Amino acid sequence: MPRPVIINCDPGQDDAVMLLLACASPELDVLGVTTVAGNVPLDLTQRNARLMLELAGRSDVPVYAGCDRPLERAPITAEAVHGMTGIDGYPIHEPALPLAEGHAADFIIETCRDAADGAITLVPTGPLTNIATALTQEPAIASKIEQIVLMGGAFGRGGNVSPVAEFNILADPEAAKIVFGCGRPTVAFGLDVTQQVLTTPARLERIRAISTPVAEAVAGMLTYYDNSNIERYGGPGRPLHDPCPIAWLIQPDLFTGRQVNVDVETGSELTDGMTVVDLWGVTGRPKHTLWMREADADGLYALLTERLALL
Ligand code: BDR
Ligand code: CA
Repeated sequence: MPRPVIINCDPGQDDAVMLLLACASPELDVLGVTTVAGNVPLDLTQRNARLMLELAGRSDVPVYAGCDRPLERAPITAEAVHGMTGIDGYPIHEPALPLAEGHAADFIIETCRDAADGAITLVPTGPLTNIATALTQEPAIASKIEQIVLMGGAFGRGGNVSPVAEFNILADPEAAKIVFGCGRPTVAFGLDVTQQVLTTPARLERIRAISTPVAEAVAGMLTYYDNSNIERYGGPGRPLHDPCPIAWLIQPDLFTGRQVNVDVETGSELTDGMTVVDLWGVTGRPKHTLWMREADADGLYALLTERLALL
């Protein structure tokens, strides 16, 4: 039986590739895609998600727009990495696939309400505002969630927006604190592991060589993405963050991690948005999170290339 998932994202080239990988994977039943303000504002993230589902031939999957700003803070965006459209490198047009009616948080609540206990997997690869809003409005949905399998956080290798914080968490730390604290089993792919999964020229070339419209789109977007922030991190090769949770759902042996407690800093000018990972169990707090630490990057790109060729 395919696993029922709700994907929450803010495309973003890496979110876009994540959506294509999910659409190409029969192990997953994508019930819906919810979008949130993040890399770019909400009107662009919801459009970009629709563009990718249309490209994948999956107009059957509804796309919802959700929160257009964080719970308590002013929005931050990441055009410096993703370009003004969020998916620069892809020829933008207005998708024929319409936006589904209703708020993303309501879709999450209603889908969970109708599901059996532990039936739904949430896959967030953007700020956690929609998920936190749903959990706050309807706490009873927590029991319907099997796992939260997310991209977000940083611990062992530093942050990418502050010295200690990763974008998805710093964009809405209050929401992240609610999600990590909700008590459901969580699998977290932070920068510790996504920075091992680099878009090298050889890997992009193998995708480009598939020579389909989907492969060309991915190669175009990742070539743009690959060239961002070269001054800071050196080049070539950027971390392909967001496909990691989907890859793990399909092939869990691509990653290894440790079962820990994770909490989120929300009250410090210096370390706001830091995911505080209790690697050695010193707090005694519940170990709800599998914090990923090692990735088989070649294996992940082999899986991605194989699946993209199916679209
Ligand atoms: C995360 O932030 C965004 O820029 C990416 O899409 C990814 O989800 C990495 O920090
Ligand atoms: Ca993202």
